[in-house]
Amino acid sequence: VPLTYASYLSLDDLLGAQHPRTEEHDELLFIVIHQVYELWFKQLLHEVAELQRRLEAGDGPGAAGTTRRVLAILKTVVAQVDVLETMTPRQFGTFRGQLDRASGFQSAQFRELEVVLGRRDRRGFAAHPEGTAARERLEAAFRRRSLLDSFARYLVARGYDVPDAVLERDPASPAEPSPALQDVLCRVYADEGEAAQVCERLLDIDEGLLEWRYRHVVMVQRVIGARPGTGGSAGAAYLRETLLRPIFVDLWAVRDRI
Ligand code: HEM
Repeated sequence: VPLTYASYLSLDDLLGAQHPRTEEHDELLFIVIHQVYELWFKQLLHEVAELQRRLEAGDGPGAAGTTRRVLAILKTVVAQVDVLETMTPRQFGTFRGQLDRASGFQSAQFRELEVVLGRRDRRGFAAHPEGTAARERLEAAFRRRSLLDSFARYLVARGYDVPDAVLERDPASPAEPSPALQDVLCRVYADEGEAAQVCERLLDIDEGLLEWRYRHVVMVQRVIGARPGTGGSAGAAYLRETLLRPIFVDLWAVRDRI
């Protein structure tokens, strides 16, 4: 059978994968937008894995190219909030009751992205019971070096004297702020070279995720107000707590020293 557009893209599967639980007009948008997000999360995980390989190989220009792509995707997913914000509270109310306890809170790929970037906190894992494929992926990512750890290796490849304690840290333990690494980062910025550019692009990624969190919580406030979430949290109040929690703490810590 000759390849076609539809077969190459598995369109029968893709376009057959929307299963609204009601006859309400607005439910399809809600499903489609979440599916689009999950596809982008898949692509982001794919790109960040490549970014880690390039950093560990000391390939600054290659890493810069991949971060540009990651950022373009992040900008796109942030902008997509506009589409869902066309849904009014009344429209959401027509089918929200059918969502049971389902929530974006249970997005395994979003959690994996946080872990891959450097978050080491199993609080979000409870939605994925031990033994499930999602939990195994999360645990595997938890034990692997994070983007931050790969970045430390890149700095070594560029000739910076990164402390052994940073390079040999257990990837599964929370990355505590490291004054020694911050001193290295100050030298990197003072050199104003390629490595300083890479630092800025990583900060862009962190900021991109914060931007998504901000747009998401404002959308939540606008669509469900102060109601609790379907995932069992306090809703917008819970999400507000995640707003100023960046991942690359050392990069943020040096802003007033560089
Ligand atoms: C009408 C639209 C939406 C509403 C009202 C909404 C509501 C919420 C609420 C209340 C939470 C907190 C957990 C809970 O108790 O459920 C949450 C978390 C979350 N939502 Fe949404 N959401 C919406 C759209 C989206 C979209 C389009 C995505 C894209 C995948 C998404 C992804 C997430 C993620 C990843 C979390 C976990 C955030 C974290 O724990 O840091 N949400 N959402």
